[in-house]
Amino acid sequence: MFKWREIYSCNIEEVDNQHKRLLEIGSDLSNLVRNKDGIDRYDEIMEHLGELKNYTIYHFNSEEELMEKYGYEGLDEHKKAHRNFIDKINEIHCKDIDEDQRGVTMEILIFIADWIENHILKDDHRYKDFLNEKGVF
Ligand SMILES: [Fe+2]
Ligand SMILES: [Fe+2]
Repeated sequence: MFKWREIYSCNIEEVDNQHKRLLEIGSDLSNLVRNKDGIDRYDEIMEHLGELKNYTIYHFNSEEELMEKYGYEGLDEHKKAHRNFIDKINEIHCKDIDEDQRGVTMEILIFIADWIENHILKDDHRYKDFLNEKGVF
């Protein structure tokens, strides 16, 4: 989970670096949750989730700007996918996490990891060739 794989590469350095960072934040959070020392980690979990959300928004914006700049046809559809994901993240309830920190956070992380992987391989890879052909690497 949250491990960078070469097949994720969009052949665009900035995008790859942002995806790597996103996975790194997810991986940090999953390590935190896996820690079975029994210490209350609610604040740390919320902090990491906040960081993940903020970085995701930053990454989505920068991807959308790039697609817009080069007139990518699928921009609207891609934006919709980004919005849906942010909506899902916004639906995470602090109360649920507090009731079962590890269980609930793990469920959230599995959803996020799956989403990121699918989105990169399906949606992001759709603009890959288009932007590469425009000379964006
Ligand atoms: Fe992306
Ligand atoms: Fe994307």
